[in-house]
Amino acid sequence: MDSILVRGGRSLSGAIPIAGAKNACLTLMPATLLSEEPLTLTNAPRLSDIRTMTELLRSLGAEVSTLQDGRVITMSSHAANNHIADYEIVRKMRASNLVLGPMLARHGHAVVSLPGGCAIGARPMDLHVTALEALGAEIELRDGYLHASAPNGLKGAVHELRFASVGATENTVMAATLAKGTTVLKNAAREPEIVDLVHCLKAMGAQIDGEGTSTITVEGVDRLHGATHPVVADRIELGTYMLAPAIAGGEVELLGGRLDLVAALAEKLDEAGISVSETPGGLSVARRNGRVRAVDVVTEVYPGFPTDLQAQMMALLATADGTSVLEERIFENRFMHAPELMRMGARIEVHGGTATVTGVERLKGAPVMATDLRASVSLILAGLGASGETIVSRVYHLDRGYERVEHKLSAVGARIERVRADG
Ligand code: UD1
Repeated sequence: MDSILVRGGRSLSGAIPIAGAKNACLTLMPATLLSEEPLTLTNAPRLSDIRTMTELLRSLGAEVSTLQDGRVITMSSHAANNHIADYEIVRKMRASNLVLGPMLARHGHAVVSLPGGCAIGARPMDLHVTALEALGAEIELRDGYLHASAPNGLKGAVHELRFASVGATENTVMAATLAKGTTVLKNAAREPEIVDLVHCLKAMGAQIDGEGTSTITVEGVDRLHGATHPVVADRIELGTYMLAPAIAGGEVELLGGRLDLVAALAEKLDEAGISVSETPGGLSVARRNGRVRAVDVVTEVYPGFPTDLQAQMMALLATADGTSVLEERIFENRFMHAPELMRMGARIEVHGGTATVTGVERLKGAPVMATDLRASVSLILAGLGASGETIVSRVYHLDRGYERVEHKLSAVGARIERVRADG
């Protein structure tokens, strides 16, 4: 398995282009199942998770082709008549569950494997199931698969999610586009990826209101047509690379970055003493002097501080002046990067969902192991600011969500390279 070698201690300077959002693309792709006509996505990221979704859609009978080295994805589901999302694909990636709502809406039935255990907590699907049941679906769990059917078609309903789940909101909104009548989804998630999905569904002819607020209203239509849609910028990739100069020092411009997508992070960086400014091409982040200040962080649903940036923020706070408290409220068990950062000299105490980080002057490079996608990139960031060499192993997690990370960081002066497992 490949590793990433980082030789720390170089300040960064230059520009990094931000790709289209993985999490938006992973919900936009299943939207193809709602229509017989082609759906084209531009600004798609080139990631292994996107290849997994491609494999899943093909297994369902959809045609998927890519252009411009994967930047453009064209899909057509006119012949998609298999309705079983197999465990062998679903287990690789939880977002596979986003085919459930569209398949059910278009065909009246769907069989989708439960994703199974995940390194960052239990991540059940009860919220997806109760919301689709509210629309008239009958769903039962047999042999590890959710068997869903809507013998009389889906019908619009008023439903309130117990928690503003991103995936449950996406599945429900997609299903409701083809349901009979009006669906009002309350306590809906407000993440920018949901707004992006709704923009695409509207381009396909769906009638939806309230995206970006906690009440989304969907007026069902008989059919959706084809569309071309550009994928929104990846706010997690953006936030990750904003933290690179914050940790290593220097100034980096994030091309295509939007401040509104990362307002909660920008606020915390400002508190810590890092400057964030808008430029004509995106955002610029600079750390000019001394250590950053300690700040407290609580992860919350959007527009709060994203859980997907918590590990990277911890890498910054590991060398802050003072003690920071990080509270993880979205996922249980999402501090697996803490012991790895401690191998690099970080002082962190974890109690349940709270990590207390007492900043040290500098981390020291060490061999470390990544346990999930965001944890792996946090170790790379920590390595950029550390003395000596950091080797991050098991980087297949990284390739799920970050496009050419070593190229993007070396282009701004980092000493980073991929060490191929085969030598
Ligand atoms: C999405 C993102 C992921 C991000 C997360 C939270 C994608 C592909 N992934 O994941 O990167 O970390 O949002 O911002 O977009 N829950 C339940 N029952 C359910 C569904 C969820 O209890 O039916 C719980 C989960 O266990 C978790 C919390 O709700 O504790 C948040 O999950 P959710 O918002 O659904 O995240 P995902 O859509 O899986």
